[in-house]
Amino acid sequence: MKKIMVLTVAMLLTGTAWAGDGSLKQIMQQLGKDYSSLNHAILLKDFAGAAHFAHAIADHDKPSMGQRLKIMGELGTEMSAFKKADGRVHELAIKIEEAARAKDMPLLIQSQSQMLTACMACHTSYRSRIVNLLE
Ligand code: HEC
Repeated sequence: MKKIMVLTVAMLLTGTAWAGDGSLKQIMQQLGKDYSSLNHAILLKDFAGAAHFAHAIADHDKPSMGQRLKIMGELGTEMSAFKKADGRVHELAIKIEEAARAKDMPLLIQSQSQMLTACMACHTSYRSRIVNLLE
């Protein structure tokens, strides 16, 4: 328990880049929409649209401090793996945005095809645990 407290405080101090106002569920619903819109833009060879929605995914909102604390309490030392999964989506989204701006369709398709795997990696490990927690 003490360990978790120390970890939580350490994350509060260092993790300022990961706090906002919305609920995680709302953020995820928006991510889902942006993900679909991104796929659709690629299908239409709409590079500007693809860059726009990839940017929105990369730049998604952060959950509120209250939700963040609950998640940290539940995940404890697994929090770093959870953040890493989020980071993977972020990196891919930036890669997709760059490929779209460069109008590089092969790279765009290749990086987009990795996105669902990145989203699902976190869902598989954490979604059910956190859904119950934040209800
Ligand atoms: C770091 C972990 C993580 C990553 C990465 C992640 N998700 Fe989620 N996602 C969650 C969690 C946790 C929930 C459950 C939230 C809740 O219901 O409170 C969720 C729920 C969802 C939901 C369901 C929302 C609803 O209405 O119940 C959608 C849609 C979704 N995510 C889309 C995505 C997409 C698209 C990506 C990738 C671009 C993604 N997620 C990446 C953790 C993640």
